[in-house]
Amino acid sequence: MPNQFAGADFITIRDKTKDQLEGMMDRAEEMEKYRHNGTDAARGLLMGTLFFEPSTRTRLSFQAAMKRLGGDTIGFPSSEGTSVQKGETLADTLRTVSQYVNIIVMRHPSEGSAKLATELLDIPVINGGDGSANHPTQTLLDLYTIRKELGEVDGHTIALAGDLRYSRTTRSLSRALSNYDVELILNSPSQLRMKKDLLYELKNRGLDPVESDDLEHSLTEADLVYATRIQKERFPNLAEYEKVAHAYEIDRDLLERTGNPLLLHPLPRVTELNTNVDDLENSLFFSQAGNGIPVRMALISSLLDLTVR
Ligand code: NCD
Repeated sequence: MPNQFAGADFITIRDKTKDQLEGMMDRAEEMEKYRHNGTDAARGLLMGTLFFEPSTRTRLSFQAAMKRLGGDTIGFPSSEGTSVQKGETLADTLRTVSQYVNIIVMRHPSEGSAKLATELLDIPVINGGDGSANHPTQTLLDLYTIRKELGEVDGHTIALAGDLRYSRTTRSLSRALSNYDVELILNSPSQLRMKKDLLYELKNRGLDPVESDDLEHSLTEADLVYATRIQKERFPNLAEYEKVAHAYEIDRDLLERTGNPLLLHPLPRVTELNTNVDDLENSLFFSQAGNGIPVRMALISSLLDLTVR
């Protein structure tokens, strides 16, 4: 099959079909062979990792994935130390770095920033998170983890729990899940419910999510729960954040009372996920983060149209 992703950008999940998502996961399965020892498919190629917002997993796993493919990376973990401090615009920074590399991964607080980059640049751009709007590569690894653990995504009850208003991970993941035959539960404190535009979009795409603020009941119903951090940095002010800062916590007792659903979390966690869940067999969040490597190898090699063997 021809590679539909050759030379493309990866900005949103919204326009991806189920076949495309499943194809990317099949490719990620093939990458597992090279995950620890690497290949030289991307020898001589460079990735730019431009992170204008904090990141541990997304940035480092993209760098690791590019290096495992045999390529290399340059970039920055924040705008500190770049000419942005002198007043350089995002557009000029992007245009410049695109002269140095073959592909760019970027994270930026403004919604639509990665899309803007695609309009300026001729090389593939990957969205590593734009404000609270999109985080499509996190979704690929979330789906991959779900498929790996449950055999397939279809046929399961999945609860998204926590900050559904500001979290870009659940925005992207819920869109991807609308391609599948799943029951979706949206569990959040009332102030952090999923925004209406997305709810409407999901309904138009044939998903009919159940909204709830009863965490115990949602966990009991779900085969798998995807928990999220309250996105403190996206609140209009600290007072609004403080009102919900400790609104929910998943701990070992709660999971045991609710039948031990599989537990995913994009990380970082703060207070919403007690460390006493860590050694439960169904706590998958660290292996989920690890799945970022084969999945991002699959994505990079598709966009750069590399033959990996
Ligand atoms: C998430 C993000 O940046 O949106 N982290 C990640 O990429 N794994 C989730 C978060 O920050 O809460």
